[in-house]
Amino acid sequence: MTSTNGTGTHGAVIADTPAQQDDTIVELRNAGKSYGNIRALHGIDLKVHPGRVTCVLGDNGAGKSTLIKIISGLHQHTEGEFLVDGEPVRFSTPREALDKGIATVYQDLATVPLMPVWRNFFLGSEMTKGPWPVRRLDIDRMKQTADEELRNMGIVLDDLEQPIGTLSGGQRQCVAIARAVYFGARVLILDEPTAALGVKQSGVVLKYIAAARERGLGVIFITHNPHHAYMVGDHFSVLRLGTMELSASRDQVSLEELTNHMAGGTELAALKHELAQVRGVDVEELPEEQDLTAPVAKTGEGAT
Ligand SMILES: Nc1ncnc2c1ncn2[C@@H]1O[C@H](COP(=O)(O)OP(=O)(O)OP(=O)(O)O)[C@@H](O)[C@H]1O
Ligand SMILES: [Mg+2]
Repeated sequence: MTSTNGTGTHGAVIADTPAQQDDTIVELRNAGKSYGNIRALHGIDLKVHPGRVTCVLGDNGAGKSTLIKIISGLHQHTEGEFLVDGEPVRFSTPREALDKGIATVYQDLATVPLMPVWRNFFLGSEMTKGPWPVRRLDIDRMKQTADEELRNMGIVLDDLEQPIGTLSGGQRQCVAIARAVYFGARVLILDEPTAALGVKQSGVVLKYIAAARERGLGVIFITHNPHHAYMVGDHFSVLRLGTMELSASRDQVSLEELTNHMAGGTELAALKHELAQVRGVDVEELPEEQDLTAPVAKTGEGAT
């Protein structure tokens, strides 16, 4: 006798309705962080839901890394509230965040380049077998599990024995994502995973971000690139100089508006005049400042 209930094979609940209000895993309320006298971040509101991708965008120094350092347990917030499953938390170490299911994939991945892919997959959490004094690594099981898990995420590598250092940057990111999923992450934080990648490899990483979402994870995707964000994002938070300049769901903002909100657009437009004086810089393609700073929706009609 079988009983199928229509959920995914991994038991992940595939939501057919957009985020419910009560499924929030991680929440920041009016949160901020100062480093001594430097107020790197303030007034930040952010929510992470299962099966959704929250994109955090912003220019250099906007506070993106500071934001995820708070959530991943590297730094503590100095203002406002940080809640996990509705409970206020204050992590002292990344281990505490991990215990709550919050996993972070840093751009400079913590891998050992000369070790095989499967070994890196289990780094720090190796499988063992045998009773205590003679416990040893269960190499066969680790190889088999790494292979299965990578395939489950749609990642096909020719040879798991190859040193991870021989993989491309995009492939290494993908292994790190699959690893976080396997070790039970509920929230996956990716700090600029596509920043150093070409178009094709970026596409591959975006595909696995979508795969992690399909598995029911809440994803926080940090990026400079509004195009990458818009390809996978459900919600967009744009930081500027430590504050949240825009927080909008997908149906509230177009790619064009998002691009204009990103630092670079308005700043470049402001620089257009100066750049025009420099030989060899073609400013034709740059937008005019007034085009970008114009309000998104003009309300012309006066109500009586
Ligand atoms: N440990 C620190 N001590 C003092 N100031 C810091 C520290 N870390 C970050 N800051 C400051 O906080 C601000 C935000 O930095 P953050 O690294 O969060 O920006 P970012 O958006 O990640 O930038 P990037 O795109 O360059 O990675 C910057 O002004 C930075 O100088
Ligand atoms: Mg950063």
